[in-house]
Amino acid sequence: MENQKKILVVYYSKTGNTERAAKDIASGLGADLEKIIDQKDRSGIFGFILGGRDAMKKRGTKIGILNYDPAGYDLIVVGTPVWGSNIAPAVRTYLDANRGKIKSLACFETSGGTPIEKIGAFVEEAAGKKIVAKAGFEQKDLREEKTYKEKVSFFVEAIKKL
Ligand SMILES: Cc1cc2nc3c(=O)[nH]c(=O)nc-3n(C[C@H](O)[C@H](O)[C@H](O)COP(=O)(O)O)c2cc1C
Repeated sequence: MENQKKILVVYYSKTGNTERAAKDIASGLGADLEKIIDQKDRSGIFGFILGGRDAMKKRGTKIGILNYDPAGYDLIVVGTPVWGSNIAPAVRTYLDANRGKIKSLACFETSGGTPIEKIGAFVEEAAGKKIVAKAGFEQKDLREEKTYKEKVSFFVEAIKKL
């Protein structure tokens, strides 16, 4: 039964965009929700510049204690903001640390304008796993309530059909 799949939505968010999408996607899927905490101080202009650089250089970071074991889920839906045209360091660390534990993987990103195609490939590389569904929420999608909601339901429905 498709709806009985155990799903975990796991995300990192610095300014709330990815968190908003993660909560709406998790609610649409009836999934558990895990927020990844980046232990590194990412505040201020230096936080921005160095954060973008860390992401671009494909560096990980130190992340906080997690509540859920991804091995216990049929599908992990990972959400990342785009940093330096790449995935956020905290998400990279999560995926890398859980290689071999993830049975099936989907992803979404929020960004200023970087397309999901590019980010999906980085997620696959970091996880060592192909993604089965993906969605991108660019700034204009996040601003337009109607577009945003349509994109969320399109993604949720695509996952339910898997
Ligand atoms: C350090 C940093 C680097 C960023 N680099 C990019 C980028 O390369 N391309 C892009 O489209 N947006 C970039 N952004 C914008 C974020 O991807 C966008 O605002 C995202 O929705 C933020 O998600 P959040 O609110 O969950 O943190 C960057 C933001 C930060 C903080």
